[in-house]
Amino acid sequence: MAYNLLRGKRGIIFGALNELSIAWKVAERAVAEGAEIILTNTPVALRLGAVNSLAEKCGAVVIPADATSVEDLENLVDRSLEHFGGKIDFVLHAVGMSPNIRKNIPYEEIDYHNMMKTMDISAISFHKLLQTLYKKDAMAEYGSVVALSYIAAQRTVEGYSDMADAKAMLESIARSFGAIYGRKCKVRVNTVSQSPTMTTAGQGIAGLGEWFAMADDLSPLGNASADDCADYVVTLFSDLTRKVTMQNLYHDGGFSQVAISPSVLVAYEKGKQ
Ligand SMILES: NC(=O)c1ccc[n+]([C@@H]2O[C@H](COP(=O)([O-])OP(=O)(O)OC[C@H]3O[C@@H](n4cnc5c(N)ncnc54)[C@H](O)[C@@H]3O)[C@@H](O)[C@H]2O)c1
Repeated sequence: MAYNLLRGKRGIIFGALNELSIAWKVAERAVAEGAEIILTNTPVALRLGAVNSLAEKCGAVVIPADATSVEDLENLVDRSLEHFGGKIDFVLHAVGMSPNIRKNIPYEEIDYHNMMKTMDISAISFHKLLQTLYKKDAMAEYGSVVALSYIAAQRTVEGYSDMADAKAMLESIARSFGAIYGRKCKVRVNTVSQSPTMTTAGQGIAGLGEWFAMADDLSPLGNASADDCADYVVTLFSDLTRKVTMQNLYHDGGFSQVAISPSVLVAYEKGKQ
């Protein structure tokens, strides 16, 4: 069901790679709620992924940008302002990648060159994006910028490696930039801490299958899917959440507040027999 929550709003969505991507679902949901969108991803992802078919479906323009390149971000924001003929109402940062995870390098043996890349792609790119939007005065008043995070920023999830450090930085950037952006321009900046989700990035984490099942068991409402995430993110883009900023918002079926659940205890007991 659609509620016209984003009627007349215009936004940029980073990170749609294929139908599994959280950003893909957000793009579809935003358009269903009345928004006009621009899709962006790296040139390689645009070539290898399925973004063009999403763009066709959503009536969206595609503008390539590597989120670590300020030059690309400036071009993206300039072209978006021109295309929309006015300011931007919302932006989704759904960007993440760790070369250490990709190469199966354990956290205790991490390669620092790779780690710098993880930080740049998964966290500092968010600062670069916010700074570009800010310098160009590109966001409308009460506009909303959302990035996607994960609970490993607060609680250790072995295997999530340096992405945990990147997510901690990402959430900190949302608070630090959110304070300035809110005070000076009335722009909201938040992170959504999403359940484990079976996407291309998610599947790169060792043991995600078991972890996904256990998180589902632990969460009173079960894991939140990519579609659920899209529903939540759309509310954060809407006018219904105009005073929400600088928050890390858990969207995880209650997982973050639970220590143990009856079904996980039973599974543990069975495993010991
Ligand atoms: N899947 C999960 O379990 C999960 C849980 C919580 C948070 N998240 C976060 O959600 C976001 C989206 O990931 P997803 O799970 O939908 O996976 P995904 O693989 O579909 O999306 C990741 C995207 O990042 C893009 N990307 C990588 N490097 C980039 C760069 N330099 N510039 C621009 N884009 C770049 C990729 O092309 C891809 O589209 C990520 O920030 C991820 O960490 C995912």
